[in-house]
Parts: sequence; C-alpha cells; structure tokens
Amino acid sequence: MPQVGIVCGSGLSGLSKAMTDTQVFNYDSIPGFPKVHVGGHVGELVFGQLAGVPTVCMRGRFHFYEGHPMQKVVLGVRVMRCLGVKVIIVTNAAGGLNSSFNIGDVMCITDHFALPLMTGQHPLMGPNDDSLGPRFMPVSNAYSKEMQDTVVRAGKTLNYDFIRDHGCYGLVSGPSYEAPTEAKFLRTIGVDAVGMSTIPEIVTAHHCGMKVIGLSLITNKVILPGETGTPANHAEVLETADMRAAQMQALVKEIVNGLKGELQKMEDLPKIDLGAAKAKKGGKTSKKPVKAMKKAGAPKAMKKVKKVMKAMKRG
Ligand code: HPA
Repeated sequence: MPQVGIVCGSGLSGLSKAMTDTQVFNYDSIPGFPKVHVGGHVGELVFGQLAGVPTVCMRGRFHFYEGHPMQKVVLGVRVMRCLGVKVIIVTNAAGGLNSSFNIGDVMCITDHFALPLMTGQHPLMGPNDDSLGPRFMPVSNAYSKEMQDTVVRAGKTLNYDFIRDHGCYGLVSGPSYEAPTEAKFLRTIGVDAVGMSTIPEIVTAHHCGMKVIGLSLITNKVILPGETGTPANHAEVLETADMRAAQMQALVKEIVNGLKGELQKMEDLPKIDLGAAKAKKGGKTSKKPVKAMKKAGAPKAMKKVKKVMKAMKRG
C-alpha cells in the first residue's frame, strides 16, 4: 500500500514519470471521482514505486474554481489517507509576489494565507468524521521542520540553486488572476506566492494525520500597482512548468528518497473503518465493475480506492 501521496500541479503531471512499476487508473473509472477540465491537468491515479517507496500520484486535481465544492476538492487526499499514505507532497504552479523570487524558483511552503477558507469555504466544514481527525485543529503546526529540511536537503543533493526554503502561499479562489491592488494586499500581509489550489488539500491532510510538503513552482511574476509586464496567463504558467518539469521530477524523487528513514520511524496511521458508513444505510453497495481495474489486474490498492469512494458516497 502507498506510503507517500503526490498531487501534481498545473503542467506538473509528469511527476509520475519518475515512478516505476506503475498501474494507471483513469479518474473516469473510479466511481465518484470528478472529471478534470483544466488544460495541463490529466485525470489519472497512478500507483507505483518512487525511489523504492510505494507511492500514489494524482495526475490532475480538482479545483474550487471549476465549481467543485471544497469537499470534492479534497476527495483525493481523503482517499490517500484511507489507503494509509503517511506523507503527502502537494505541488502547484504559483505567481511570485516576493520580489526576490525568480520565475522557475521552487518555494517550500511553510505558511499560508487562505482567504476562502477563512470566509466560509473550508473543506472541513460540515459534520466532522472523528475517525479522520478532530473537530477543531491547529494549522500553525501543519508545516513541520523535518519536512522542510527534507526538501532543502533534496535541493542541495541535486545542486539546485532555485529552491526557496520557506515562504507563505496565498490561496485565492480564481479563476481570474489577481488585480494589482489585490496582489499588493497579499504582498503587504506577507504572502510570497499566490495560487488557486493546494491549501485545501494540505489542511485536509494535516487534519487526518498526514505529514505535508507543499511545493510552489513560481511560473510568473505577479503584477503590482504601477508595474507593467506580461499579464498573468495560463500559457506562461504551462511554459514555465514545462521548463522545470524534469527538475521537479528529480526533486520530488529525491525528497521521497530522503523520506525513507522518516517513513520507517513513523507509525502507521490508524486504520479507517470504511464499514462504518456502510452500516448507516443498511450496507447497500454498488457492484459496478471498474473497467480499467480489470484490465490492469486490479491491485489491492485500487480495490480499496473503490471501497473508499463507495463509503464516502454513503457517508
Ligand atoms: N495567480 C494565481 N494563481 C496562479 C498564478 C498567479 O499569478 N500563477 C499560477 N497560478
């Protein structure tokens, strides 16, 4: 079963390329998984080995701006938790607000400012599932020093001079990029990079006991009042992501390699009782077969993904 989970950001779907012994499942074949609509995102769940560690990778994520409710945005993270994933690496493309950042830098997220979550669009709103995590929880401890050190070490091993060892990620709902004064507001309060994803996933992963690593690839410079320059656009985002694709793959692989000791030390997270939701509604389960699963030989993990999805539908 996977120990590490990876969520690929815009243009970073290639992160799974570094994996070996892969089995790939299209989101279409997973009951209850939303469709992915955004260019630069695929829509596949990939199981395999990364640096010798069993890993699951979401190639394509669900964004709030696509109209998905926050609970759907974080669905993949919950599935990973139910599979036993202990560390999640969430990647994204982001706009740089810190004037010392360059396009192509990779920022290790060590703090965040998430206006949507603060104002009523929070993935943990609604009834709390106590088996996953507590009703109220701190996020001041979401980004741990060990995980940050692992990122920095991996960057050093690879001789990468573009790793920013800390920074605050600002979440906006999108889909429009920021107006100059919005950008100024975010910068003034200390945001280093801005984007439309990642924090719902990180908060949810933290809630259910996983360790988190957030990586922002700075794909463009955000325009502040009075500045001229290329307005933010998706083509530039994808272009930068493409430019760094191979290095991002190597970085994530090296991070996972560096996590081996930590993973061994970490106890398994408590098993989630997927039968609990079943009992609630009389145990009716859909027996719809998953085509891709049959084709690929139905790994144990995929069976569990299906079970998780069914339990969530009922719960
Ligand atoms: N703003 C918000 N989201 C983004 C940006 C940006 O400038 N670049 C990539 N994702």
